[in-house]
Amino acid sequence: MNSFDIQFHNGQFHLFSSKVSYICELHKDAWLLHRYWGPRLTAYHGANCPEPVKRTFAAADPEEPAFSLEMEPQEFSCPHQGDYRESSLALRRQDGWPAGRFRYQGYEITEGLYAPEDLPHIRPLDGKGAKTLSIRLRDEASGAALTLRYSVLEDSAAIVRSAEITNEGTGPIWVERAFSALLDMPYDGEELVTFHGTHQKEFQMDRRLIGHGTISVGSTRGASGPQYPPFAALCAPEATEHSGEVRALQLIYSGNHCVRVERDQYDHLRLTTGIHPEGFSWKLEPGERFQTPEAVLVYSGQGFNGMSQVFHQLYTERLFPRQWAGRTRPILLNSWEMCYFDVSEEKLLPVIREAAALGFELVVLDDGWFGHRNNSKSSLGDWTVNREKFPNGLTPLLDCARENGIQLGIWFEPEMISPDSDLMRAHPDWAARFPDDAPLLGRNQLVLDLTRREVQEYVLDTLSGFLRTYPVSYVKWDMNRHMTDPGSASLPPDRTGEFFHRYMLGLYRILHELTARFPEILFENCSSGGGRFDPGMSFYMPQTWCSDNTDALDRQSIQYGASYLFPPSAIAAHVSAVPNHQTGRMIPFETRAALASSANMGYELNILDLSQEEREQVREHLALYKEERDLILGGAFYRLRSPFDGNLCAWMLVDRKREKAILYAFAASYDVSCLSAVLKIPYLDQKKLYVERNTGRRFSGEELRYAGLAVRFPQGDFPAIKIVLQTETMS
Ligand code: GLA
Repeated sequence: MNSFDIQFHNGQFHLFSSKVSYICELHKDAWLLHRYWGPRLTAYHGANCPEPVKRTFAAADPEEPAFSLEMEPQEFSCPHQGDYRESSLALRRQDGWPAGRFRYQGYEITEGLYAPEDLPHIRPLDGKGAKTLSIRLRDEASGAALTLRYSVLEDSAAIVRSAEITNEGTGPIWVERAFSALLDMPYDGEELVTFHGTHQKEFQMDRRLIGHGTISVGSTRGASGPQYPPFAALCAPEATEHSGEVRALQLIYSGNHCVRVERDQYDHLRLTTGIHPEGFSWKLEPGERFQTPEAVLVYSGQGFNGMSQVFHQLYTERLFPRQWAGRTRPILLNSWEMCYFDVSEEKLLPVIREAAALGFELVVLDDGWFGHRNNSKSSLGDWTVNREKFPNGLTPLLDCARENGIQLGIWFEPEMISPDSDLMRAHPDWAARFPDDAPLLGRNQLVLDLTRREVQEYVLDTLSGFLRTYPVSYVKWDMNRHMTDPGSASLPPDRTGEFFHRYMLGLYRILHELTARFPEILFENCSSGGGRFDPGMSFYMPQTWCSDNTDALDRQSIQYGASYLFPPSAIAAHVSAVPNHQTGRMIPFETRAALASSANMGYELNILDLSQEEREQVREHLALYKEERDLILGGAFYRLRSPFDGNLCAWMLVDRKREKAILYAFAASYDVSCLSAVLKIPYLDQKKLYVERNTGRRFSGEELRYAGLAVRFPQGDFPAIKIVLQTETMS
C-alpha cells in the first residue's frame, strides 16, 4: 500500500497518509456522507454507521423513510432539504428563490495540490507528494455546480479542503454562504478550544464544554482580528498538551471568517468554517466560479503538541514563502518604542552604528518617517520621505547601515489613507465608504478601497518605486484599524456584498506581486501587533509582530497561545525597556531576554540609553542567540506548562536529532509554594543521556520523560530559567 493515497472503492472515498484517514461515502449515488476522520485505518467496513431509524419531524422519501439528511453525517450542507443544522452553502437565483439541491455527478483524483491562484494556499512542494480528490455535484434546477476538493499530503496528518461553485446555468446566481469545510461526527464528550484576544492581549485560550446549540466565533471586522483567530479544535475531555485526541482546523484567510460548532438534538456534532456569511453575497454570472479559501484539518492523537507539530511542519514546508525556508532571520532593532513618531536622520545614524557594534543585524525605521507625520493624524498614503526629519532622504541611513555591515528595514501601512493626506486630496473616492454617509475614523484613518484595480496599482507602484529608490532589506506591513464602511464606488448595487472578499483578493494580489518583485526583502506581518496573525498573511510574510504588548509577563501567554498554530520562526518577539511602556512592570533583563530569545528575536528600546554593563549584557545575549538560532528557529517546539492554568509557564525547543534541547520556564510571581517545579519532558530521546550545560548534571531521556526535571526559580518576581541539555553517548 502507498504511504499516502486516495482510493475509491464500493462508493467509498478513502484519503490516507501514514498518519491519518478521511473517509466519505456516496449514498444511492446521489448524496455524499461523511464516515470517518482520524488515525490511519487500513480498512473501513462501516462499523460506526448507526442503524437507520425513522424519526418524527424528519423529511424523508417514503421509499426510504429512515433516510433523512437531518440524521446523516455530511460533507457539506444546503438548507431546505431536511437538514436544519448549520449549513455550509446558500445560493439564491435571480428570481429570488433559493437553490442548491446538489446531487453527486462524478469525481477526479489528481496528483499534487489545487493551489488556487488568487488566494493563499498550501503550496505544492517538489519532491514531496500530495493527491487531490475533486468531487463534483450539481443542482439541476439552477445549473449550479459544486466541486469539493480534498488533498492528502505525504507524511502529514493534515487534510486540505476547499469548495468551488460554478454557475453553469443561464441566469446569475448569488452565493450567500460558501464555507470551506464541514465536518459531522457523533458527539463523544469533546470540548471546544478557540482563542480570544484583543489589542495587546492576543491568543488567549478558551476551552469549554459543548452544550446543545451553536457556538459561533469569528470576525466581521474586515480582518481576521485578534478577537477570534480563524481556528478551532475539538478535543477529548482528557486531552492535554501531550496526549489525547484533537481535531483542529484553521482557515487560510485574513478577512471575515467564522467557525461554528453545533451539537444537535441527536448529539451529532457539526464543525464548519469559512468566510463569515454576515453581509456576504457574491454574484456569479453564467460561466463564473467562486473559490472558497482553503481550510486545513489536522488530526492529532498526541494532544495539542501533536497538533502544533503538524501545523508547524506544514506551514514551514508548504505555507511560508519558500525563499525563507531554513534561512537565517536577522536580529532586528526597531525604532518604535525607542522614538515613536520622533524619528530623524540625526537620531537614527548613531543608533545604527551602536546597533552594529552590539551585534544587531537589522535596524527598522518604524512609523513617522513619511509625509508630515508627527502623530497618527496624517500622511498615510503619502509614502515620500519627510525632508524635515531626513533632509537627505534615507540614503544616509542605508549607507551607514552598509558601512557598518548591517541592514535597514522600513515600516509601511499601505492599506490606509489619512483624511489629511495628499492622496486623500487627490482621490477622495479612494477611501472605502458608503455613498451617503461620512466614513467613520479609526486611529484617525480610513481604509483604502482595495477592491479597485487602480487603488491596487497605486499601492504597488508607490511601494515598488520606494523600494527601488531605497533598497531596504525588510518591510514591516502594518494594518491598524478595522473596517466600518465596506463600500466602493466601483461596486454596482447587486454586488455590494462582495466588498470584504474583494478587498482581500485585492490585498492578496498586491502582496503576491510585491513579494514576487522583491523576493529578497523580508516582509513582516503586523496589525497593531497580532491583529491579523493568520495563515493567509503568513503565506506572503514568514514572520508576524505578534503583539504590541512587549511586557515579558503578558507575552508569556500571548506567545504560548500563538505557538499552538505557528512555529517560533513566525513569532516576532522583542526585548523592550523597563518600566514596560504598556504595563509599567519592571521585569528583569534575564526574563525579557529569555522570553524573546525563545522565538524570532529582536529589540525595541533605546540602545543609546544603556549603561556600559547593560551594553555588555545585550552583546552577550545577541551572541548567544546567534549560536542557538538554528535550533530555536528550526527545531521542534513543545509546550510543557500552560500559563492559562496557573503561575508557571514552560516550553522547550529540541533539534531534529534530539541531541540538544533548550528549556524555558517562567513564573509570574515569586511564589513560595512553587519555588521549584518538576517538569516532565516527553520529547527527548529516551535512549540518550543528556548533560545540563551549566551544572554538568546528567539525566537520561527516559527519566526526564517519566520522572521529570526539577527546576528551581531564582528569588524575585517574574523569574525565568533557561536550561540547555545536550546528549552524551550512554556508556
Ligand atoms: C502598530 C504596530 C507598532 C507600530 C505602530 C506604529 O501599532 O503594531 O509596532 O509599528 O503601529 O504606528
